[in-house]
Amino acid sequence: MQPTKSITNKTFAEDVLDGLSDEPKHLSSKYFYDDEGSRLFQEIMKLPEYYLTRSEYEIFRKQTEEIYQAFDANKGEFDLIELGAGDGIKTSLLVDYFLKMDSRFSYVPIDISSEALNFLTDKFHREFPNLDIQTERGDYFKTLETFKERSDKRKVILFLGSNIGNFSAPQALEFFRHLHEVMNKNDSIFIGFDLHKNPKTILNAYDDSLNVTARFNLNLLKRMNRELGANFETDNFLHYASYHPTECAARSYLISQKDHDVFIEELGREFHFKKWEPIYMEVSQKYNLEMIEELASNSGFEIVQNFYDENRFYSNSLWKPA
Ligand code: AVJ
Repeated sequence: MQPTKSITNKTFAEDVLDGLSDEPKHLSSKYFYDDEGSRLFQEIMKLPEYYLTRSEYEIFRKQTEEIYQAFDANKGEFDLIELGAGDGIKTSLLVDYFLKMDSRFSYVPIDISSEALNFLTDKFHREFPNLDIQTERGDYFKTLETFKERSDKRKVILFLGSNIGNFSAPQALEFFRHLHEVMNKNDSIFIGFDLHKNPKTILNAYDDSLNVTARFNLNLLKRMNRELGANFETDNFLHYASYHPTECAARSYLISQKDHDVFIEELGREFHFKKWEPIYMEVSQKYNLEMIEELASNSGFEIVQNFYDENRFYSNSLWKPA
């Protein structure tokens, strides 16, 4: 299983070395999002099985005014900071409404992929010529460190798209405790949680019939080929997704279909893969209301308001420091 990693990070190569030397082998899903991975994730969001994006979009579309009120977006200047902004499509619904209501704010999208950030800023500049945009490229763990010095403006932080799902329970707790330290009393955070539902609905979201999710996972092997001089052959692996209803966790694996070795130049090492040996790739943790409440209170926050879509597939939860 993925160990709790501290928020101060290792390099890609170091993480790969740790993960592939471990038993069972694992890789970190945070490395999925190079430019190619970000493009594949765009494709995932359009899949009929991938309900998460549509659910969150519905909340933003139908409850824009309620969100505007809950953010106190009419009360003074603030920074709207988005962790892992991606394509910003959902956020543009808020930005559009806030600007129409004459809110005074800057938009600060943070993302690891420069291609995604360029795409987003081009689009927002065109759609909202008067919006002040301050992009930050980087790992959002690292950018948290700069939060205190950013400005003395109130911060409304967006952590959308069920990105929180990629943390194990202890990692999520550590993340929010850390965030709590760098937030001021009047700041708030708006988090997207994917909720419990029919396990088959969840499983299908990670096992789509077009195999886009498989390609998304396999891209990490290709990324190691590109960046670390590895010689993975993606045909040697198959994508396997699972959902564990007792742990409320969707997990994905790449399974080696034969006995073989892979050499990674950057690490100067060969790794052996046994036939049917799994590499644990990703967890997508699902939540219920009790789990959300527990996470908030254990990390020093209180819930201001929860927003739901009509199916109750998904919740956006607004927290402030308690
Ligand atoms: C971007 C982390 C929310 O876990 O649902 C989608 C990533 N992985 N399909 C998720 C993902 C496989 C996604 N998050």
